[in-house]
Amino acid sequence: MWIIYGEGNVRAYLASSEVSVRDTSIDSVQEKTCMHNLSWIVSLSLTLATLSAFPYGQSSPPRPKADVLARGKYIVDRVSMCGDCHTPRGEKGEPVAEKYLQGADLGVEPTIPIPGFARVAPDITAKALTRWSAEDLAKAFEVGKRPNGEPFRPPMPGYRMDRKDAEAVAVYLKSLEPGSSK
Ligand code: HEC
Repeated sequence: MWIIYGEGNVRAYLASSEVSVRDTSIDSVQEKTCMHNLSWIVSLSLTLATLSAFPYGQSSPPRPKADVLARGKYIVDRVSMCGDCHTPRGEKGEPVAEKYLQGADLGVEPTIPIPGFARVAPDITAKALTRWSAEDLAKAFEVGKRPNGEPFRPPMPGYRMDRKDAEAVAVYLKSLEPGSSK
């Protein structure tokens, strides 16, 4: 329109269509654009505020789905055997069910020097993992390293799980109250 009409024609057009020149002045257009931007920013901030009010693992998070928990448990107990190191053993070497994944003295020494070898596998139930977000855990099982980029000390394996499995394991560990499972 601006290209087709000269200035006079524009005024004539505006007058004929009963739109006052004042209404379409730059100020008024800017004001409307500004209000539009403002309402967009306000609604975005509200959305973000709502989302951040429920970060994973706090206040009232959505309950993890049963199939995700089952997948996590399957990987932990039957594929990766995390309990072989993280669950303490009784006198006959059997895992102590009430202390499932609550940390254990490995009771083994490497026969050759292994730098950084850890003799204790820590508690990995939810209470002990409060400083780990579910996302940090998932990432750690995906890349085989801690959030700060350091590898785990041996003999903790540097797992390279696919994203879904890593998330399932993270969600499962975060769901574990001490003694609640197995
Ligand atoms: C062969 C023994 C072994 C196995 C199997 C094992 N871990 Fe570990 N894990 C360790 C040791 C030892 C450490 C301590 C490593 C360190 O200090 O860096 C550890 C550390 C961790 C940590 C860090 C805890 C913290 O507070 O820093 C997590 C999380 C963890 N293991 C989860 C798992 C999961 C999940 C599995 C199974 C998928 C698993 N581990 C299997 C021995 C093991």
